[in-house]
Amino acid sequence: MVGNAPGKTILLGEHSVVFGKPAVALAIDRYMTCTVSRGPAFSLNGYRVKKSKHPHFARIMEIHGVENLNVDTNSTVPPSSGLGSSAALSASFSAALRLLLEKEASARDIALDSFDAEYSSQGRASPIDTSTSAQGGAVALNCPEGLGEYLWTIEKGDLKWDVSSVPTPELTLVVGNTGIRAATGPLVQKVRKFKEKTRFASDIIDEMGQLAEQGIQTMSKNDLVGLGKCMTQNHKLLSILGVSCPELNKLVKATLPYSYGAKLTGSGGGGSMVALTDRPDAVCEAILRRGGEPFVVTAGVAGASARVL
Ligand code: PMV
Repeated sequence: MVGNAPGKTILLGEHSVVFGKPAVALAIDRYMTCTVSRGPAFSLNGYRVKKSKHPHFARIMEIHGVENLNVDTNSTVPPSSGLGSSAALSASFSAALRLLLEKEASARDIALDSFDAEYSSQGRASPIDTSTSAQGGAVALNCPEGLGEYLWTIEKGDLKWDVSSVPTPELTLVVGNTGIRAATGPLVQKVRKFKEKTRFASDIIDEMGQLAEQGIQTMSKNDLVGLGKCMTQNHKLLSILGVSCPELNKLVKATLPYSYGAKLTGSGGGGSMVALTDRPDAVCEAILRRGGEPFVVTAGVAGASARVL
């Protein structure tokens, strides 16, 4: 069985979404493919490995009571780059495993498996990446009333996220990868500690939530100027929160003259930025000149699926 799931770019609300604030993300045309078959042990890409070293697979196999499997992965989502590679891994794996086990495999089922895997391996997470990879298109969490089509709710402890599908706006996005790999877990923990220690961090997180709500409204009107402003402001707040880095700031600054707005996307600390633009060539050139790797993305692609090989 082969599962396939897209990566994503977060337009607004990373980090603050972990605390239940609104966020919006788009599925992008970078994919993770996971092929699964029954086997005598757990093997990954042809090697017998310890499942405990691969917590996403381990958790989803545990959910489904499966001990042994052969798993092969293939990916065009750059790893640890803020583009949702681990969510796409979980979603493609869940889709393929559910097909192998002849279980229901709705986008909701896949999103729940994947969030569980992401949460247990990261220690803390929101369902933005996993729900977007499972559902595809444009996905908003805790979106303002009336702007989205309600899909499902995910709860963890005292936090609750209503997941909705929102219309994919007509826009051009360019991603710029710094090439610096940064794991999501430690950045999420850093923000949690900052929030626990200071009122200041809580205020910034609240502000990011309001900005995301405002941005989702501008997006629904196809107001690219308004959306771009929210994105750039979101980047400033993420920088104040301590999750940007000089390389990301350099790429954001370089692309702003040719963009409606630009910001880091995903957990930050390296990884990628995204620019909203109608001058993709100029933006790509600016990213290249500052040492980043640019690519224009097709946003709003279909979500996770699986088929028999
Ligand atoms: O860097 P990524 O693609 O893993 O995105 C992380 C997004 C965060 O909001 C920082 C964490 C989360 O679980 O929502």
